[in-house]
Parts: sequence; C-alpha cells; structure tokens
Amino acid sequence: MDKLIIANWKMNPKTSKEAGELFLAIKEGIKSIKELEIVICPPFLWLKEFAKEAHSIKIGGQNCHWEAGGAFTGEISAQMLSAAGADYVILGHSERRHFLGETDDIINSKIKAALKAKLRPILCVGENKGEEMHIVLETQLMGALKDLSINQIKNLVIAYEPVWAVFSDEASSPDSALSANLFIKKILTKLYSRFLADRTPVVYGGSVNAKNAVDYILKSQMQGLLVGGASLESAEFSKIIQNVSKA
Ligand code: PGA
Repeated sequence: MDKLIIANWKMNPKTSKEAGELFLAIKEGIKSIKELEIVICPPFLWLKEFAKEAHSIKIGGQNCHWEAGGAFTGEISAQMLSAAGADYVILGHSERRHFLGETDDIINSKIKAALKAKLRPILCVGENKGEEMHIVLETQLMGALKDLSINQIKNLVIAYEPVWAVFSDEASSPDSALSANLFIKKILTKLYSRFLADRTPVVYGGSVNAKNAVDYILKSQMQGLLVGGASLESAEFSKIIQNVSKA
C-alpha cells in the first residue's frame, strides 16, 4: 500500500494567482516521486482547474454536503466534487466539528454521500486537550461509521489529528500517535475485522513539517500524513514528500 501525503490548504492561499503558483511549484518539486500517493485539497474554487492539470497528483475536497442537491445555500455535494475531478474528500475535520458544530451523525451522513459519489473519504478523528483519547476516538469512529458495512468502507482513510496539535506548532509525540494508531486499528477490528483494520490507512495530522514527518511514518507506523500549514510552502511540502519517500 502506497503512503498517502494529503495537503489540506484550508481557506488558503488568498488569490488564484498564488494558488496556481503553489500548485505548479508542488508539482515541479515532486515530479520524480512515484511511490507515494499525493492528494491536494484546495478550496472548491480551484478544484476543477487543478484536477485537469493534476497528472499523478490526486485532488480532494475539504468537505461535502450529505444531500445530492437542493436548497442548501453555500454547500457543495459529493457528486459535484466527483464530477469536478476530485477523488478524495476530507470529512469531520476538527475545525468543522468545533467551529461549525459538525456532529458524528452529520459526518456519518456525509461519509455515506461521499461513498455514493465514489469519493474516498478521509475521516478526521482526534481528542482535544483534557479529553481522554480512547473515549473520543471510539465515540467518533462508532458515530461516523454507523450502519456502514465492511464492503462500503473498504476505501476509507482515517486521519488521526489531535485537536491541540492542529495549527499549533505543538505536534503529537510519535509515541502517542502510535498508541492512537493502534487503538484506531483495534476499534476497526472490533467493528469490522482484522483484515479491514490492517488495510485501512491511518494517517497523522497536526503540525507536521519536514523535520518530524518521517517519525510519524517510522515510529508511529502511520500510513501517511495530513499536512495543513506546511503544505502552503512548496519547498517544505516537497521536502516532507521527499523525506517520506526515502524513509
Ligand atoms: P496543520 O493542519 O498541519 O497546520 O497543523 C493540519 C490539518 O488541519 O489538517
């Protein structure tokens, strides 16, 4: 299974010109990399244009609605993302859970919509400061995967992102990321099977940079990384990818 490196640009960069330049610079910086799956999740506005130029890079949305269409001002459906050329969609990101009130039920409906549109969901889970990691992970996984069969979730990606480590410069220690990884696999085994748990990629996110990236792959046994801030600097992001490809 190839390692996955996912860039979450969030609501950045500020102009189309900067976005286009960043995309081209990343493409250039990683053109010799073959053995990794690179996914860029830009704001919706640029998704279609990037998808046309992406070549080996995959494109993802940062969110989708649970309905296929209708009176939902400001929203975008999974089918629309898919038709625009996306292969992935990030769902349940902590910024949406905490600032926009997304619940596990809502995330569950969005995963179902994404799967129906043949998108690969990247389900974000993780505890906040002061919360018990095991309880939060179990609750979020059980809620988000409710009523989903083993067959339906075979293309799921799980991103472990402790909320306090996101956009904070305070990354998780590789040891605690390892215990979160093993615990996620344990829950997947309990809910589905060992086989499914083994083949579901778990990636780490939260203040990843070129210095700490390889630790999460080697010490935390992560299948990849979800990179926010550092994916907005082409040189740093390319370095993360190069370091992981050599690991
Ligand atoms: P960060 O963001 O790398 O800036 O901490 C990660 C994320 O939000 O997915």
